[in-house]
Amino acid sequence: MSNSIFIDTLQGIKRERPPVWFMRQAGRVLPSYLKLREKHSFKELMETPELAAEVTLLPVHDLGVDAAILFSDILIIPEALGMNLKFTEKGPIFDNPLREIKNQVSSLVADSSKLEHVYKALDIIKRDKPAETALIGFCGAPFTTFCYMVEGNSVNHSFSNAIKLLYNHPKVATEILEKITELSIEYATTQTKHGIDVFQLFESHAGLIPTEVYVERILPYVKRITAAVRKTNTPVIFFPKGIGAGISYINHEIADYAGIDWQYSLTDVRTMCDPKMGLQGNFDPRILAIDDQEILEKELEKFLDFGSKNHNWIFNTGHGLSPDNSVENVKFVVDWVKNAEWRRS
Ligand code: CP3
Repeated sequence: MSNSIFIDTLQGIKRERPPVWFMRQAGRVLPSYLKLREKHSFKELMETPELAAEVTLLPVHDLGVDAAILFSDILIIPEALGMNLKFTEKGPIFDNPLREIKNQVSSLVADSSKLEHVYKALDIIKRDKPAETALIGFCGAPFTTFCYMVEGNSVNHSFSNAIKLLYNHPKVATEILEKITELSIEYATTQTKHGIDVFQLFESHAGLIPTEVYVERILPYVKRITAAVRKTNTPVIFFPKGIGAGISYINHEIADYAGIDWQYSLTDVRTMCDPKMGLQGNFDPRILAIDDQEILEKELEKFLDFGSKNHNWIFNTGHGLSPDNSVENVKFVVDWVKNAEWRRS
């Protein structure tokens, strides 16, 4: 047993409670973050190693979570492939999305120096974080990254241009996915050299295409990234949001843990997927926007039975926190997870 409940759980060591952290725990709800945002743009926070490290650790101090996730964004991979990225009121925007296919694909050239600031941030986080806090590195999974690169924004939630390209020009789509995958492997394995304890791959848009298409055309790229990271003895959490019953394809060959959204109960998911896989999730983050903490507590109590029987489980939300979640509720959840009677034998 170590002093980190998060790392022990990932290593299969039975602990008295599940570890707890949240996707988007730093950059959405914390007053301390919003204060920093008054002075700095999001890009400035992310690209200045000292500031990115500071923001990464805010939720550890302010919420008491068991893990810190690197403060960055999945879209720095397209940026390092030469695409021009802006974060606006309407979310991320690329100047030249990959719609005019041919010439633009050949213009994607990796410039690893654009990722250096992340490694510097990791070194500072590693130096400053409490010993018991696990450090999570991450990148976007190839399909989600592809969706943004082709669509160019997140306003069209159906990502219809990206999906059309996948079907209409499979060879071009493959070329783009290859370029994303190669740079992601370099990026992820370099993060492991800078001391991350665990790596999460975010496939936020897995649910946009049929499972068979996902499994046949996308999963091989996912496997290449996760295999490269696991070769460094770093455990991997794969989050295929919206994959539904397709979770049965996400086995221990692909990742150590699967992140689960709120669609299914964890008890059902447990019967649907590889018993060797750990699970992470899947509290509905929208419940964190309600006013009544008694209702919140009742929803949390629904996890007690699962958590008493399953030790390979990390408590998290089924997707990221959003600005309308109250920080008091988020803190309430952390304290609840830490103090609940988990009755683990
Ligand atoms: O706590 C954290 O926020 C951790 C760092 C982090 C960010 N983005 C910072 C961010 C992480 C892990 C991400 C991942 C990410 N980024 C994903 C995958 C996870 C998911 O939420 O589905 C995706 C799809 C993106 C792309 C992206 N970045 C979008 C669509 C947006 C706009 C909408 C939104 O979520 O806010 C961003 C902006 C972004 N990324 C912000 C932050 C803190 C908001 C920037 C601000 O303060 O204005």
